[in-house]
Amino acid sequence: MDTIIIEGGKPLNGTVEISGAKNAALPILAATLLVGGTHTIKNVPDLRDTRTMLKLLETLGASHKREGRTVYVDTSGLSGAEAPYDLVKTMRASVLVLGPLLTRAGYARVSLPGGCAIGARPINYHLRGFSCLGVTTTLAQGYVEARCETTMTGATVYFDIPTVTGTENLLMASVMARGTTIIKNAAREPEVGNLIDMLVAMGAEIEGRDTDRLTVQGVQSLQPATTTIIPDRIETGTYLIAVAATGGRVDITQCEPTHLPALTEKLRTAGVTIEEGQEKFTVSCSEQLADNRCRLESVDVKTLVYPGFPTDLQAQFMALMIQADGTSIIHETIFENRFMHVAELQRLGADITIDGASAVVRGVEPTGLCGAPVMATDLRASASLVIAGLAARGTTEISRIYHLERGYENMIDKLQALGATIYKGSSSLV
Ligand code: EPU
Repeated sequence: MDTIIIEGGKPLNGTVEISGAKNAALPILAATLLVGGTHTIKNVPDLRDTRTMLKLLETLGASHKREGRTVYVDTSGLSGAEAPYDLVKTMRASVLVLGPLLTRAGYARVSLPGGCAIGARPINYHLRGFSCLGVTTTLAQGYVEARCETTMTGATVYFDIPTVTGTENLLMASVMARGTTIIKNAAREPEVGNLIDMLVAMGAEIEGRDTDRLTVQGVQSLQPATTTIIPDRIETGTYLIAVAATGGRVDITQCEPTHLPALTEKLRTAGVTIEEGQEKFTVSCSEQLADNRCRLESVDVKTLVYPGFPTDLQAQFMALMIQADGTSIIHETIFENRFMHVAELQRLGADITIDGASAVVRGVEPTGLCGAPVMATDLRASASLVIAGLAARGTTEISRIYHLERGYENMIDKLQALGATIYKGSSSLV
């Protein structure tokens, strides 16, 4: 099985270009199901997850063609309405086909995703939202069957928690529903805004973009559209943190600086210099130690919905705090089980104690961090191990790297170009 081998302790320098956002590409690809024809999606990252979504669209009868960063999806002839367990188990975001299939075909059968490495992650709010629109949902043999005998009818839907994919699913289910749908306590993540732009380009009428109250006026018809995927803010944040952890100076280009307000604030407080430009960050140390690293102060972090600190950067930020001066409390409020990386970071010498939903991270001297074999448990945990491996002295070998390939485009190449010693290996032990 493939592994990633890192010889740590080197600063990162140069320029890294950010790819399109995985979590924007997935709902937008699903949205192509809403109306038959050829949709043009630009800046689509080539990742395991986007390939899985395209495979799922194929099983539903769509076809696609990739030319560089642009993907053309032809959804003229749909021949199915089922997302099979084999695909859903590898990518939970497969549930995003529920909303568009209900609009297009009035019926969808999608395997329930089950729990995952970061929490139980039920889809009860998605299903409750659909039922407000007049959809009947039943559960049989591990599959959700959703059916609407007549056209869906607009309704007011309130989410107890502002769920990201729940909001996206409801938007896609309501764009052609009769009358008005109001989504209260909607997610405000930039990826939701990107989907709204796509839906509006298709002819949908949606008000309230970037707010927690979305109003959808159902329309009679939609047409295929052209959309550009926004830059991946989580990939951007991962590189910002990586440079903070190793020292050096890096230009991060083709990104959207306004999408990371909480992270940049926390990094600056920790002692990192971040300059913001047009689609660009430049990151370096405010104060450099003798070995080129940044002098880092501990800061506390609490994950929250956007524009709060993203849960998808919690693990990476912890990998930074393990070498900061003092103690940092990292509080995870979105997912109940998102500390799987802690035991692996401890193998590198980190001093972390978990106390319920909080991790108490006592910074150790950078010289106290030493490479070791570690195992990736989920996508963002993998990124945190890469960051810790880049910062630690000696060799770190990360196994189960398929998690990383789900969400980071060409990460090894990008880090090599910045001067890191990182390459693919293989191990028969994992
Ligand atoms: N929740 C429910 N019931 C629901 C829906 C959500 O209880 O019906 C709970 C979840 O269990 C969680 C919270 O509500 O505790 C928020 O979950 P949300 O629904 O917002 O998460 P998601 O839509 O499943 C997306 C991203 C995740 C990201 C979260 C939070 C995609 C494809 N996935 O998941 O991304 O962590 O929002 O921002 O957009 C990743 O990229 O590594 C990743 C996990």
